[in-house]
This record gives sequence, structure tokens and C-alpha cells, in this order.
Amino acid sequence: MSPDPCPASGLIRPPAQRVAAEVNGRYYDICIGYDLLATAGLFCQELGWRGRCLVVTHPCLSHLYWPGLEQNLCRHDFSPQLVLVDEGEESKSLTTAGFLYEALYRTGADRHTPILALGGGVIGDLAGFVAATYQRGVPLAHFPTTLLAQVDSSIGGKTALNYHHLKNQIGLYYQPSLVLSDLGTLSSITARQIQSGMAEVVKYGMIASSDLFAYVESRAQLLLALQPEVLQHVVATCACIKAEIVAADERDKGQRRLLNFGHTVAHAAEAVSNFSLTHGEAVAIGMVVAARLACRLGMFSQEEASRLVVVLEKLGLPTVLPPFPAGEFMAAMQHDKKARNGKLSFVLPRRIGEAVVISEVSPETILQEISR
Ligand SMILES: NC(=O)c1ccc[n+]([C@@H]2O[C@H](COP(=O)([O-])OP(=O)(O)OC[C@H]3O[C@@H](n4cnc5c(N)ncnc54)[C@H](O)[C@@H]3O)[C@@H](O)[C@H]2O)c1
Repeated sequence: MSPDPCPASGLIRPPAQRVAAEVNGRYYDICIGYDLLATAGLFCQELGWRGRCLVVTHPCLSHLYWPGLEQNLCRHDFSPQLVLVDEGEESKSLTTAGFLYEALYRTGADRHTPILALGGGVIGDLAGFVAATYQRGVPLAHFPTTLLAQVDSSIGGKTALNYHHLKNQIGLYYQPSLVLSDLGTLSSITARQIQSGMAEVVKYGMIASSDLFAYVESRAQLLLALQPEVLQHVVATCACIKAEIVAADERDKGQRRLLNFGHTVAHAAEAVSNFSLTHGEAVAIGMVVAARLACRLGMFSQEEASRLVVVLEKLGLPTVLPPFPAGEFMAAMQHDKKARNGKLSFVLPRRIGEAVVISEVSPETILQEISR
């Protein structure tokens, strides 16, 4: 594809990039660029798909992106059926999954009817779960529309529903056949959501790439302004890193656990803040706690910990936990799915670009670090 001038800003948009993802000998493309939704039908046709397909999204997103997507799917011999689900975590439920099964049944879907998930992580997790389970698996494509979904949740095949107010209690691994990350869709999300997604970007820098970390450090303002070349470079780099980690460890037995950097504290912080902190804000705080703990253990330098704090601040993310009741925080950490016999495995940085999983950290140690 050739560079395409961006009409709104006069900026040049870079040509789209493809990242090849492989899991257990199955390959799929992650495409990152602009105006990709307008050619989604072609991408789907290239996979040998045609005819009926189900597009799962939220009403606000259908308003923004359905007309163009529908037109292009129809032009490529698809008969798309739009299914709308409410926004928010409540939709990651068995009830909503049942509603989608019913829509598939009524559409006359068979094992070859693809599901196209247009939205953020909520849509991706829900539609992914339904695709994995309907008739023991129908084809799935992710069209992620939040930064978090583009750099993280659309890649790697984790699907999930919540259960009894606990997050992601039900789910399975199910890889998509295609991920189309249309960067233009990020212009309609809020600045806070962009900042929140940036926490995951910093996480990839911390665990896997000092180059990515330095790139973000020096271009934080351009990134927040969604400058096309900078944004595409960062999203594509994160997609590469995640795809590589998942290729080596689909099921969270080894290297993939590094992706939990900052997340043990983050999940508890989200819960005790009654979800007034976004996931990314909580991850930012969690990464700083992990960095401080690593400094105390003599594994990580104060200098690098300060670089982490500074880059998060440049991205408008918090680095300190708001006041919280210690008991509640401990209880929330014990609920972590990765907890075993009351101990947590914790990801700690060795240097920027490299981290390790330390098992058997007690919640008390983490609490001590937070209270210092
Ligand atoms: N499967 C995984 O590997 C994985 C990884 C990380 C997070 N997750 C899950 O992802 C979810 C969070 O995802 P999220 O942060 O994308 O939130 P989200 O999916 O709830 O989207 C946030 C809000 O933004 C709106 N929105 C989305 N795209 C938009 C756009 N382009 N323009 C305007 N509005 C838009 C949505 O309607 C919603 O109201 C959580 O449920 C989390 O558990 C999954």
C-alpha cells in the first residue's frame, strides 16, 4: 500500500504493516494501519470466507463504523448481520453470550460463519468466547478499536467472561484468523482511554524492548497526539512483541507470564478504587510498585525506576496509589487468578527491556512496599 495523505491533519499516513503471528503451527496476520475497516471485506475474502457473517459491536461503534464496514463487506460478497451489545464489563456475561448464540442460530450460522468483533477488549473477549464455543468453534476476526485492544487484547487468543462480579473467570484460548487494527478508529476514543492504553505500551518496553521504551520516552507528546507514524510504529512494535511471546507460550506457562508485569497490584488497585482507576492507570501504579520492589531486592537500579516514573508521568498516568484500606487491598490481591496457596507470582524488572517472574511473593511483602 502506498502512503496516504491524512485529510484532517495534512499529515502523511504510513503504509499499512502486517505482523505475522503464529501459534502452534497456525498463522494469522495482524494488520496495522489507516482506513483498514474500509477494506475489511477484502481481508476477509482473502481468508476464503464469504456469505453470512456476524458483526458484534456496541451501539456507539455501529453508529461510527458500521455504514462503511457494511458497505465494504457487501461489496465482497458477504451478507453481514449486525448484533449490538451494551457497553461495559456487564456484557462479558453468560447472558450476553447466550444472546449471541441465539443470534447465530437465528442467522442460520454454521461452522464456517465468521464472527467479526468490532470494539475494545470487552467486545473482543465476549465475541472471542462465543466464536470459540459455538459449534465447537467458528472463524473469528478482531477489529480492535481501542489502543488497549490493538496492542494487547486482540492478540494472543484469550477469551473471557466475568462471573459473580469476578473478572475473566470463564474463558478459553481461541486464536483469531485475522486482526485488523485500524488506527483511525482511535481518534474517536477519549484522551483518558488513550493514556490508559499507553500503560500497556510502556509495559512492553519494560519487559521486552529498551528501544521501544526509549522511543516512547522521546515521543510521548507525539504519541498522545496520535501522530500517525509514531502511533503506527508503536502499535506495530507492541503487536510484534506480544505475538512473539504468545508464539513461545500460548497458555501462560512461562514467558507469557511476563505480560502480567504491574498487573497483580493493578487488579487489586482497580478493585479497591471501585474501578475509578482505569485498568491502564492501575497498571502504571503496579509497574512502579514492582520497580520499587525490584530496587529493594537489589535487582533493578534507582535510575531506571526513575525513568519509568518519568515516562508514565509524561503520558499523564498516575504513579502512586491513592489511599486505600489495607485489608481490602490484601483481599483483592488474594483473588488474583495467579495466586497459589496464598502466594503470588510477581514480575520484576532486571533492567529496562528485561523482566523475570518471581514466584512465591507474599501479599504482605507487596503491601509493605506500597505502604513505604
Ligand atoms: N483478552 C485479553 O488478552 C485481554 C487483555 C487485556 C484486557 N482485556 C479485557 O479488555 C477489556 C477492556 O478493554 P478496553 O479498555 O478496550 O475497554 P472497552 O472494550 O470496554 O471499551 C471502552 C469504551 O470505549 C468505547 N469504544 C471502544 N472503541 C471506541 C472507539 N474507537 N471510539 C469511541 N468509543 C470507543 C466502548 O464502547 C467502551 O465504552 C476488559 O474486559 C479486560 O478484561 C483482555
